[in-house]
Amino acid sequence: MRRKLAAGNWKMNGLRAALAEAEAITAAAAADGPEVLLCPPATLLAPMAAQAEGTALQIGGQYCHPAPSGAHTGHVSAPMLRDAGASYVIVGHSERRQDDGERDADVRAQTLAAWQAGLTAIVCVGETEAERDAANTLAIIGGQLAGSIPDTATGANLVVAYEPVWAIGTGRVPSVDQIGEVHDFIRARLEQRFGEGVGRSVRLLYGGSVKPGNAAEIFAVSNVDGALVGGASLTAADFTGIIAALG
Ligand code: PGA
Repeated sequence: MRRKLAAGNWKMNGLRAALAEAEAITAAAAADGPEVLLCPPATLLAPMAAQAEGTALQIGGQYCHPAPSGAHTGHVSAPMLRDAGASYVIVGHSERRQDDGERDADVRAQTLAAWQAGLTAIVCVGETEAERDAANTLAIIGGQLAGSIPDTATGANLVVAYEPVWAIGTGRVPSVDQIGEVHDFIRARLEQRFGEGVGRSVRLLYGGSVKPGNAAEIFAVSNVDGALVGGASLTAADFTGIIAALG
């Protein structure tokens, strides 16, 4: 049985005052319910982790450098995330692939660094609108999976998030058939490469404009084990609605 996961990606949002929102979200995280994860900006990692201590809320980073330390101004490493209280890290988000030029090989190196530090990596994949229009979606996703995920994946160290680039922050969501097609494809690829045991144990999240109003429909799709949520994870009112749809 794969435990459901509701992951919130706060992106570059949140000052210390937003810790109150995280506290309200913590109340919806129960040990016997879906796993709840918040990935705040790096500045809020340590205080949010301290606030979450003794609760079921998990904390994660949004990126990590491939190296554990060094002369890389402005970056953050996987051991630093771990040290601040993180147990997860998002890697290969499409905004980093687009804004920071990250390629599959970079994402793969970051994933290895995350594993080395004892973090679970949430590896993001997804097609652009032009790629979908050209009927290239599965080829693109297959390439990203092959290039971004290292060979030593397990159900414990890896989560895959399918996030169509055109659905992120746009209010546009693929049809349940489109989501199901890609999630079934990802599951099959993972089983082929890592064997049925590992392939079936990796959790697959859908991400892109998930809201309380569409969450239940999305979570009913086969091989959707939860969501990676941006905008709707910033407020407890919205995010707890999504968590409830998962539970
Ligand atoms: P969104 O972002 O929920 O605001 O569309 C999702 C994501 O980028 O993970």
